Amino acid sequence: MIEIIHTEKRKEKPADQSQLGFGKYFTDYMFTMRYSEGAWHDAKIEPYAPVAFDLATTVFHYAQGIFEGLKAFRNEKGEVRVFRPEENFKRMNRSAARMCIPPIDEKFVLEGLYELLRLERDWIPTAPGTALYIRPSIIATKVALGVHASSEYLFFIILSPVGSYYAHGLAPTRLLVEDYYTRATVGGTGEAKCIANYAVSLKAGEEAEKKGFDQVLWLDANEKKYIEEVGSMNMFFVLDGEVVTPELVGSILPGITRKSCIELLQANGYRVSERRVSIDEVIRAQKEGKLNEAFGTGTAAVISPVGMMEYKGTDYVVNGGEMGSITKWLYDTITGIQTGRLDDPFGWVVKL
Ligand code: COI
Repeated sequence: MIEIIHTEKRKEKPADQSQLGFGKYFTDYMFTMRYSEGAWHDAKIEPYAPVAFDLATTVFHYAQGIFEGLKAFRNEKGEVRVFRPEENFKRMNRSAARMCIPPIDEKFVLEGLYELLRLERDWIPTAPGTALYIRPSIIATKVALGVHASSEYLFFIILSPVGSYYAHGLAPTRLLVEDYYTRATVGGTGEAKCIANYAVSLKAGEEAEKKGFDQVLWLDANEKKYIEEVGSMNMFFVLDGEVVTPELVGSILPGITRKSCIELLQANGYRVSERRVSIDEVIRAQKEGKLNEAFGTGTAAVISPVGMMEYKGTDYVVNGGEMGSITKWLYDTITGIQTGRLDDPFGWVVKL
């Protein structure tokens, strides 16, 4: 049972949908659910508001927390369309298992999400390139300083109308290949969507930004040789016609947009490989004129072209700094399926 607590107080919606940015506005309601004494309970849709926590709450000290990111779209026909939501809650349970967090009932929280979206449908922006970003999270809420898994948790879903993740929109990004800092190791938490993974990435991200880059391209922690991901995106390269993405070795997030791209490319006859790909291989291909395209994929970033990579002080331009044709096709196809402009042959979209 989900209790709904209504409010008459409604926030002003952002007037200019072209200026939404990412994660700056939040809607009128949120979904919450508590865990204690071995069970999830008190599922509610309630007015969005700050929540008070004791400063000894576990998540503040030991980062026992996970999250997800997915999107809902509204088109000119008035359809509300959610992209592959089951995949997110499946992955959330995999992250939960890694972080000693009790599993959620995926069907139940999906129903909660749909109920929340029905209530908030007017918040879903309709301008091209916009969506309602959905952020489900679980945080450890037991008040205790001992280093143990918490016995109490808060699950919540908040919603944010968004435009493009990068301030420069679809313009090709500039990546700094990071050869000192490390994001994740095999056996660590890199493949879980846990909050600490993002904290770990901040230092390198800040240093890269100061040098004028958009993001850090992470290499494997052991050899600093194999490409892993970008933190907010999985990576793809088109190397002499072959579309290559790093295989999921345990330290890479199993992205849902990544998986959707692989499925789309395969279904359309492209040669796609999930394999280890070294930075040396990519640079060699660039020097030989065989690095046709590079792009990142993610819920927030969608399909984001990469125009340049710097490695050990040398710049490597990709496709003349322009978005490539496969990147463009994937962007158009994924966003077309999401918004209903194109058919949904895989049945990825849940229509509300
Ligand atoms: C997403 O794409 O949903 C992410 O979680 C990436 C980032 C905004 C943290």
